[in-house]
Amino acid sequence: MQHITFHRPDDFHVHLRQGPDVGHYARDARHAGFARVLVMPNTLPPIVDAAGLSGYRREIEVAAPGLKALMTFKIRPDDKNPGADRIRLTALKKAGAVAGKLYPEGVTTHSADGIRRLDDVWGVVALMEELDLVLCLHGEVPQAFSLDREKEFVPWLERLRQSFPRLRIVLEHVSSADGVQAVKDCGALTAGTLTAHHLLFTLDDMVGGKLDPHLFCKPLLKRPEDRQALLDAAFSGSPQWFFGSDSAPHAREDKEASLCSAGCYTMPVSLSLLVQLFEDHGVLDKLEGFVSRFGAEFYGLSQNQDTVTFAKEPWTVSKMYHNVVPLCSGQTLNWSLTGG
Ligand code: DOR
Ligand code: ZN
Repeated sequence: MQHITFHRPDDFHVHLRQGPDVGHYARDARHAGFARVLVMPNTLPPIVDAAGLSGYRREIEVAAPGLKALMTFKIRPDDKNPGADRIRLTALKKAGAVAGKLYPEGVTTHSADGIRRLDDVWGVVALMEELDLVLCLHGEVPQAFSLDREKEFVPWLERLRQSFPRLRIVLEHVSSADGVQAVKDCGALTAGTLTAHHLLFTLDDMVGGKLDPHLFCKPLLKRPEDRQALLDAAFSGSPQWFFGSDSAPHAREDKEASLCSAGCYTMPVSLSLLVQLFEDHGVLDKLEGFVSRFGAEFYGLSQNQDTVTFAKEPWTVSKMYHNVVPLCSGQTLNWSLTGG
């Protein structure tokens, strides 16, 4: 196969940051071929209300014409003042929020204001179910050993699933066989996003030889058997699994440092890598559902009408994008975006 054409894809988990960098990262998303991106709210300051959300969306869409920003807000503990959360969430919904993101305290970049216990956000989550807002989870328990943090989050997911039967829940950037099993067990109103880096690499790629800080992300890359479970999920053709890159730019000096920040900048390369991965496994017929269909369906959006075409033409990844070292920096990849 020399060409592949499919409906224009969406990325259901991106970080576009704040300030002057927003435009760079948003334009990279458009150039990478995506129609829509689900924008995470862990900016500084975080996106927590309708005014912040609307302003951020405007900034993104002005900077990157043609890119549609699907907006999220950061979930904060229930307000002491009864009624305040209802007013805030109703306004968020009216402003176009599609999801709220729950971060356990300290679990990743800019999550010091995250939550300690599910009980602290019970009222907000109940309102989200009522307002039909999707709950996106950073599914790790920060107090657990780092390789077990996702596994130890599974009871949190199960409790949410049982308590809010109509709530749509996404376990973000699933990284372990335990996470895959938990999403499957939760049934159709629960989905999992998968990143390109968790599908391609294991912990050994990061620390097995010389340390590669550009593969350091949360949740951590895991064991080969975990990666295999992620591949099986991505190739299964089940609508419970769709693409969310978790593309997370950090300046080069924050990555190539002691106390390196977590996050891989995958936006420029993720689609090319996914075409290669699905081709290598003989499942190119499963790619379109994963990147262009199941996410839109889960979020109640129509599928993009136009298409993108990738050709088997080598290209070399830039060493640096706006002072950020991308995944596969300087490497030659086989599939190029040629149309769309
Ligand atoms: O590696 C990560 N980086 N994981 C996250 O959950 C957040 C992200 C970021 O914002 O840098
Ligand atoms: Zn993320």
